[in-house]
Formats: sequence, structure tokens, C-alpha cells
Amino acid sequence: MGKNILITGGVGFIGSHVVRLMVTKYPGYQIFNLDALTYAGNLENLKDIEKQANYHFIKANILEADALKDIFEKHAITDVIHLAAESHVDRSIVSPLDFVYTNVIGTVNLLNTAKEYWRGDLSYEKAHDGSWEKNRNHLFYHVSTDEVYGSLGKEGLFKETTAYDPNSPYSASKAASDHFVRAYGETYHLPYVVSNCSNNYGPNHFPEKLIPLFIHNIINKKALPVYGDGLYTRDWLYVIDHARAIDLIFHEGKNGDTYNIGGFNEWTNIDLVKLMCAQMDVKLGRAVGESEALITYVKDRPGHDRRYAIDATKLNKELGWSPSVTFEQGLAATIDWYLNNGPWLENVTSGAYQQYYNSMYDNR
Ligand code: NAD
Ligand code: DAU
Repeated sequence: MGKNILITGGVGFIGSHVVRLMVTKYPGYQIFNLDALTYAGNLENLKDIEKQANYHFIKANILEADALKDIFEKHAITDVIHLAAESHVDRSIVSPLDFVYTNVIGTVNLLNTAKEYWRGDLSYEKAHDGSWEKNRNHLFYHVSTDEVYGSLGKEGLFKETTAYDPNSPYSASKAASDHFVRAYGETYHLPYVVSNCSNNYGPNHFPEKLIPLFIHNIINKKALPVYGDGLYTRDWLYVIDHARAIDLIFHEGKNGDTYNIGGFNEWTNIDLVKLMCAQMDVKLGRAVGESEALITYVKDRPGHDRRYAIDATKLNKELGWSPSVTFEQGLAATIDWYLNNGPWLENVTSGAYQQYYNSMYDNR
């Protein structure tokens, strides 16, 4: 069936991979990519597909309710995949309100617009099992993060049933947005799914996050600022595997349900950084240990979550998803992508980038 899908944040890191997958895999769908082009949004990320007949870019801000209404009406939007957000924890510590605006108010604007525009099609009758599955002629897919669950100790994994316990302004704003999505489902029977994913890495990742920042710094022989003792743990997933999971959940996920997405791939930051250094020494023809010498322990991030790890069993068992690449393969492909895309890296790190980076560094 033809669909007119609004994807928000589609020229950002993850959004660009989701848009590319949907545009190329489903020529019968019209894909409307709404993005405000903040510092993190980059049209270059979709240069290869921008001329496809079923791809349409719309520059707009999810804070503008009137613009959203016009877009839904003009393009008869049937479904939403919502990725637009302020996404960087360090920035949220410096400017929490920006995160409240985009991640909370922006999401509620979008929910409101969808609820109003689809209201004639939404049944308020729940099925015998308590679901409202027949409202699935529309879907509001909210892309969220595992950070809403807070921090794990040495043992255990985040499950879909883990209680929310956000610690940073970023994760608090994402938790609030998840709750609003659920509330719109319960109150207005807006058909929705939520997925909570672990740390992504891969092409198009803005070099403020650990992996792309350190690749950029290794190339330029700059210090690698490891926060605190470096023993913080993250569960890394190749971005294309996240996009594959979103495609699957979008089509087969149960209305009103949530799915955790992760690669069963935990690394302490310091081990990960050492692996990157070793791979890059080889690729750059440098002496063994040259990049590792750039590691510099710096002041810790306030409220730094010790460990994230996702239990993706539900997604695997119910929908048959599993990651397609190993971490070593994905990391090597990612490093190659940055080495082969020098102009992209130079473009996003010119202008205000250096000023921002220095100011963050001073704050640590
Ligand atoms: P990103 O920062 O790379 O991209 C965000 C995009 O949203 C950018 O293109 C930006 O221009 C756009 N945007 C920001 N504010 C906007 C606004 N007010 N109106 C319209 N567009 C706006 O982020 P990302 O890393 O690709 O993350 C995408 C989504 O996935 C986010 O919701 C994030 O919380 C979630 N997520 C990210 C990760 C990760 O590891 N990066 C993991 C799990 C979940
Ligand atoms: O878990 C999913 C989340 O992963 C997403 O929701 C966020 O949008 C995404 O940014 C990411 O959050 P993190 O805070 O985990 O990612 P970041 O790359 O900023 O940091 C990863 C780890 O590396 C974390 O423990 C902090 C540490 N770090 C980060 C930077 C930027 C450093 O030690 N030094 C650094 O310079």
C-alpha cells in the first residue's frame, strides 16, 4: 500500500540512514524528510538519493505547529517516523532548555498535529485484547534511546520493562517525550510504537560524539579526551543495523508497544579507544602506539552514566532482527568512511565547530 511518510531529523546521523533505506527499498512510498538543518543536519548526507522521485526534503522546525499542520495537509501524511532531536549529552549539560524545546515541545507539537490530522480515522474502541490494532492505518513511530533507563551496575541489561530513571538533561527530555507518546496512545488512541536504542556509530556521525570525534582527532594528531577513568561502558550498534530495525518495527511492530534495540556489544570507553587507535595506526601507516599516545584523561562528564547494555531479545524473538555486522567490521568500515570522506569531515568541522569544541573542552 502507498504511504506518505514524514521522517523528521532525516538529514542527521541516524535519520539519513533511515531515509536512504526507506526511499530505496520502498519506491511506492513517498518520503517527506523534515529537518530544521541545525548544526547536526547536513544535506550532504543524502546527496546520493536527493533526486529520487519518491524523496522530498522540507526545511522546517518541529517547534512550528502551524508549519506542521500545513505539511500534513499538503502531503496527506499517513505515518510519522520521528527522529528529530537535540542528541548530544554534553550540549544538554550546557543548554538544557534547547533540549526541552525540541525534544519535548517539538515532539508534543508533532503528536498533536498527527492526532488532529488523523482524527477521523482513529477508532476509540479498543479490541478485545485491550489493543487498538485496527488504528494501524496510521503510525507514529518515536525513535528513542536507552539512556531513559539510567545507569546499570556491573550486571544486568535494560529490558523494555526496566523503569525509567534518566540522569542527564538529554535523557530526561527523551524520557518526557516517550511518556507523551504513550499518553497520546492511551488518551487519544494514537497508533504508536517506541524503540529505545543503544549507542550508534557509522558514517555521517557528527564529530562531537566519542567515535567520530576521536577518528577526527587521530587523523589530526590531536589529544583524545577520555572522561574520568575511561571505564564507562557503552553497547555499540552499527547505524545501518539500527535503520534495519526501524524498518522492521515500523512494518511489523505491535501498536502501542516498545522495542529495545542493541548489539549485545559492550565496550569500556578505554578499550574501544585503544582498538580505534590500533586500527587507525595501521590504516594511516603510523608506528604502533602512535595514536594511543594521544589519549588524555580529562575531567569527568557530570552525571555520567556508568554502564548501558541492551537486552534485544524481544526484537530478535518477535520480529527476527539481529545485527548484520560484527563490531570489528563496522568499526573498520566507519574509519574507512571517514578516511575516504575528508571533505565531509572538513566541511562539518570548519566554521563554528572549533570554537564550540574548545569551549566544551574548557568546561571539562
Ligand atoms: P543528530 O543530532 O545527528 O540529528 C538530529 C537531526 O534533527 C538533525 O538533522 C537536526 O537538524 C534535526 N533537528 C534538530 N532539532 C530540530 C527541530 N527543532 N526541528 C526539526 N529538525 C530538527 O541525531 P542522531 O544521533 O541521528 O539521533 C536521531 C534520533 O535518534 C534522536 O531522537 C536520538 O535521541 C535518537 N537516538 C540516537 C542514538 C545515537 O547513538 N546517536 C541512539 C539512540 C537513539
Ligand atoms: O545510548 C544512546 C545514546 O548514545 C544516544 O541517545 C545519544 O544521542 C548519543 O549521543 C549517545 O550518548 P553517549 O553520551 O553515550 O555518547 P557519547 O559519544 O557522547 O559518549 C560515549 C561515551 O564516551 C560516554 O561514556 C562519554 C565518553 N566520552 C565522550 C566524549 C564526547 C569521552 O570519554 N570523551 C569524549 O570526548
